[in-house]
Amino acid sequence: MFNKETKLINATPQGIREAAEIIKNGGLVAIPTETVYGLAANALSEKAVAGIFTAKGRAQDNPLIVHVDSVKSIEPLVKEIPEILYKLADAFWPGPLTIIMKKSGLVPNIVTCGLDSVAIRIPSHKIASEVIKLSGSAIAAPSANLSGSPSPTTAKHCFEDLNTRVDAVLDGGISDVGVESTVLDITLDTPKILRPGFVTFEEIREFIPNLTIDNAVLNPLEEGVKPSSPGMKYKHYSPNAKVVIIKANSRDYCEFVNQNANDKTFALCFDEDIANLKVPYLSYGAQNDEATQATNLFTSLREFDEMNAQLVYAHCPSSKGVGLAVLNRLLRAAAFEVITL
Ligand code: TXA
Ligand code: MG
Repeated sequence: MFNKETKLINATPQGIREAAEIIKNGGLVAIPTETVYGLAANALSEKAVAGIFTAKGRAQDNPLIVHVDSVKSIEPLVKEIPEILYKLADAFWPGPLTIIMKKSGLVPNIVTCGLDSVAIRIPSHKIASEVIKLSGSAIAAPSANLSGSPSPTTAKHCFEDLNTRVDAVLDGGISDVGVESTVLDITLDTPKILRPGFVTFEEIREFIPNLTIDNAVLNPLEEGVKPSSPGMKYKHYSPNAKVVIIKANSRDYCEFVNQNANDKTFALCFDEDIANLKVPYLSYGAQNDEATQATNLFTSLREFDEMNAQLVYAHCPSSKGVGLAVLNRLLRAAAFEVITL
């Protein structure tokens, strides 16, 4: 069914122009952003956006984020701009924060899956910003992975997932943040974080004192409960290996892993654990360095697949600051299987 010749383009000035041109002509290009790579298409073209859903195998009720390059260009996309938006924009944009507002009629229903709100972000990545500018339109872009697999932080990851399905992959190196943007809903009387990211709860609370965090961030959705963010109900970020999270201090974690491992077991550990582990491991950073853990998480999950891991024991990150985003992704990769020692 998929037979496109997916072109790998280097992000030279010429390459960036070529990527923007493909998007202008209704095509699909995986582009780098500071969070993860996004699968970009013209947000105002129903046909182009429909192509995103097909290429990713994405559920038809999971809305997309619209990317723009200035606050000014948000005006036509929303019903009105709430006062708080300007403060948040000053503090966090361009950057890894997505803000949900009431949509205008200009945004096609296929982008928002029929919701009356639209998710908007101004990325800080220079290449993403250039592509948006040169394409001359708002850009719809979900993470550029196949639905269900770990989000891509390199052009190689995008190519592995989307070869033959999209027109091009624009190679702009590694995505530094490593996890997707914080999703914040300001349409509610009590604004809520629907998905944690690099911009933390603590940072946003400085501007919104009554800020809350959706229950589904750290808990499985209860049967019959409608999710605030449709994306939360889908299985996510799963490598082929089964992932189990171990909540323990370093000594107990290492002892548990060493005792319960077979030859297809791997550890996703912290730097501090390395010396005491007797099984193959990938460290995703120092225990108290949540930002580095975020950068390495998805790459590590994909590497375990390359190593044919069957079972991965992941050392549980903290839920502070950026750690909340890491824990949120890891819980989904582990289908919420946690062992507390
Ligand atoms: O960092 C990111 O956000 C990346 C880069 C490419 O910008 N994009 C990304 O998109 O992660 P995606 O599609 O993988 O995740 C978007 C999330 C989904 O969970 C979706 O359900 C939610 O945002 N979302 C989008 N529009 C929404 C809306 N109107 N109301 C509630 N949730 C919404
Ligand atoms: Mg995604």
